[in-house]
Amino acid sequence: MKKRNTDHYQMNKDHWDELAPVHRESYGVEDIINGADTLDSIQNRELGPLKGLKVLHLQCHIGTDSISLARRGADVTGVDISQESIKVAGEITQACGLKIDYLVSNIYDLGEKLKGKYDLVYTTQGVLPWLGDLTKWAELIKSFLNTEGRLYLMETHPLANIFQADINSGFTPEMNYFSNGTPKIWPAGDPDYSHPTYKVRSPSCEWQWTLDDIFNSVIASGMRIGFFHEYPFTFYKLFDGMEKRGEYYYIKGQSDGVMPLMFTLGCSHS
Ligand SMILES: C[S@@+](CC[C@H](N)C(=O)[O-])C[C@H]1O[C@@H](n2cnc3c(N)ncnc32)[C@H](O)[C@@H]1O
Repeated sequence: MKKRNTDHYQMNKDHWDELAPVHRESYGVEDIINGADTLDSIQNRELGPLKGLKVLHLQCHIGTDSISLARRGADVTGVDISQESIKVAGEITQACGLKIDYLVSNIYDLGEKLKGKYDLVYTTQGVLPWLGDLTKWAELIKSFLNTEGRLYLMETHPLANIFQADINSGFTPEMNYFSNGTPKIWPAGDPDYSHPTYKVRSPSCEWQWTLDDIFNSVIASGMRIGFFHEYPFTFYKLFDGMEKRGEYYYIKGQSDGVMPLMFTLGCSHS
């Protein structure tokens, strides 16, 4: 197993603690309190009915998707390393009149903090780059699934991650698709992905995982892959100059549709 670097997780915790109140403003929270749904049509189709299911939502951030899961009748437990995110999640959930259990934890400490088995582990949209050990991640997910349980993952495609943010000047790789396991440190001062004017004050670190890493961690855990889908659009404005059509963001012009930008993965316990 790779060595845990607690400094990296502390850096990311501080980063997400800073962003929680920013995203309270930029995530459309008032609309969500008034009933807006955050799960897109792909998730709706691939997840199926959730009523009555026990759902473990990993990296739930400010709970916006946890709320959408709970509104479908799921019994949801949300987990996040950021105390400030969980605080905001609790406030929004209360404003929605829902009951969701939230827990502040690094997911790698979850085995000591959370007992019980779940019908679904749900984790989506900006989760894997924050994790330094996918082998352990997959083992942990399997340990929380009951024998009929399943994992649902929606994530940015690792190929898309390697390109620079401004694709108007062409697709220039700014990092290697392959990784030696060393995280990339993002300095302070970059704009936030969801708030139009906010410049992030704290650094963060992200790991680049290949499809090879993702598949082999899941296979090694003993989970069984049920589906894997790639899509030529994504759930947020990954590159400057993307355009939103319907629910998703697309590359404009002749490069539209040429490469995968996000994927979904569904696995069963065994
Ligand atoms: C992009 S957000 C989650 C995506 C979610 N779909 C959203 O946008 O609301 C990433 C979340 O992962 C959490 N996170 C990062 N590293 C973590 C870790 N090691 N354990 C638990 N949560 C972690 C962060 O605190 C943050 O809330």
